[in-house]
Amino acid sequence: MVEKDGFEGKPTSVWLDTTPETHFDALATDLSTDVCVVGGGIAGLMSAYLLTEAGHKVVVIEAGKIVEDVTAYTTAKITSQHGDIYSYLIKAIGETKAKMYADANQSGLRKIVSIILDKKIDCDLVKQSSYLFTEKYRNVPMLKKEAQAAARLGLPASFVESTPLGFDKGAVEFRNQAQFHPRKFLLFLAKEIVKKGSIFENTRALDIKDGSVITDKGKVTAKNIVIATHFPFFDKERFYTKLFPHRSYVLGMRLKSEVPEGMYFNIDGNRGSMRNQIVDGKKYLLVGAGTEKAGEDADTEKYYENNKQYAEARFKVDSIDYHWFTQDNRTLDRVPYIGKLSQGNIYVATGFGGWGMTTSAVSAMIITDLISDKVNPWSPLFNPNRRAYVKYTKTLIGENVKLVSHLLSRRLKRHAFDLPTGFEAGEGKIIKVKGKKVAIYKDKKGEIHAMSPKCTHMGCTVNWNGTEKTWDCPCHGSRYNYDGKVIHGPALRDLEKEEI
Ligand SMILES: Cc1cc2nc3c(=O)[nH]c(=O)nc-3n(C[C@H](O)[C@H](O)[C@H](O)COP(=O)(O)OP(=O)(O)OC[C@H]3O[C@@H](n4cnc5c(N)ncnc54)[C@H](O)[C@@H]3O)c2cc1C
Ligand code: FES
Repeated sequence: MVEKDGFEGKPTSVWLDTTPETHFDALATDLSTDVCVVGGGIAGLMSAYLLTEAGHKVVVIEAGKIVEDVTAYTTAKITSQHGDIYSYLIKAIGETKAKMYADANQSGLRKIVSIILDKKIDCDLVKQSSYLFTEKYRNVPMLKKEAQAAARLGLPASFVESTPLGFDKGAVEFRNQAQFHPRKFLLFLAKEIVKKGSIFENTRALDIKDGSVITDKGKVTAKNIVIATHFPFFDKERFYTKLFPHRSYVLGMRLKSEVPEGMYFNIDGNRGSMRNQIVDGKKYLLVGAGTEKAGEDADTEKYYENNKQYAEARFKVDSIDYHWFTQDNRTLDRVPYIGKLSQGNIYVATGFGGWGMTTSAVSAMIITDLISDKVNPWSPLFNPNRRAYVKYTKTLIGENVKLVSHLLSRRLKRHAFDLPTGFEAGEGKIIKVKGKKVAIYKDKKGEIHAMSPKCTHMGCTVNWNGTEKTWDCPCHGSRYNYDGKVIHGPALRDLEKEEI
């Protein structure tokens, strides 16, 4: 129930457009199991699959439908090349830990590829190079440094003077990386999981109490619980102070010219990300560009427009057939939070920073080892309870100042709105009705949907997203449809209805 319109092309991802909908039942009775995995994206399903393979009985709980949230809108490059991370990590956490990050992600890449090959999964796997490139001569030394850092850590990396793009000034090439169709891969894993365990859709986890996941449909009691809900829905460890959702926008386009081979990420500031994908026998170029703090800007259409201009300046674009966006959570030190929480047998996998294909595989391997009482060599690096704050005080303060200002804006701007005289169909606004702020959406039939603009997570004021027709929270990335129904957490409850 998301009303969309606006930009050119279908308002959905290539992955959703080319795979069938799933139909797993909702939870109907209370259950007991070895492991309850909460969240049916790549982190949850990869964990559920490896745990099942390791002999655990697994129940997956999914608030909506599996693989319809962030993972359905990714660009699905399976690579350990995560921007310019390796020179940064060596400086920030030292060579030993940086090598651990490199090894873990290369193993994540190999794990996904080996599952695909072993199980003969038809999911458009293509092995190819990943390039971190620049269009500016002044950034070449930075890339050379990154290539050296990555090679020193044992990664298959080298600096190359040019790439198949033709317009770059040089790049770091990571050889033997891969891309795939994430929904085809994960829907296959889901079928494997339910051979020995269960998946329940339309079942939202609301709390964890005494070893049980309490959902809106019943209770699952489990020896171990894995939180893979993107932003953790259960937050005793205060992830809300150390996870920051950022968004980017993708266009799926046909070109009049040859679509380049390879996967690309631009280091110059616009963070252009590219790869190709065959759809119905035709080759598409997927172009992602731009990034912003999730939910802060109501005018999301301009990001698609910028993205289009970025592509048109570099390729002969024939048609734009898809547009989509999604968001991912960054951590303070660019290393995801994966592992056991400080209380109970509860595990978490989050903070993938835009690189959740390999890091989800890493999460699944670490969590499976920990639950199976095996030593995992990388788990200390990803420990979700690590105290890295001192080094990252600047980021911490900057991001949390934004949070506090969003929380306060509710009070500061309380009287700043007046009832507008005109209200177009398809428009959403926050207005003042009888002295109270109300979020109003007028649908295409002229019907008014009125609700409180107060996010049910921690009370920040939501913003209207005119392109997607959703209410988006700038604090931790919760999203609601035009009628106030939660479509992305950490919020667990819908926006409160208002009478006007
Ligand atoms: C534009 C963009 C492009 C990207 N491209 C790449 C790429 O090329 N390569 C790469 O490695 N990474 C990429 N990423 C990152 C990657 O897509 C994400 O890190 C990854 O998909 C996150 O997976 P997840 O399983 O954590 O989240 P999700 O896929 O969102 O899964 C979480 C699931 O939990 C469910 N859930 C939430 N709350 C509850 C609850 N209370 N109860 C039950 N279920 C709940 C949700 O409905 C959802 O299905 C990209 C990110 C963006 C923003
Ligand atoms: S206040 Fe946290 S997501 Fe809205």
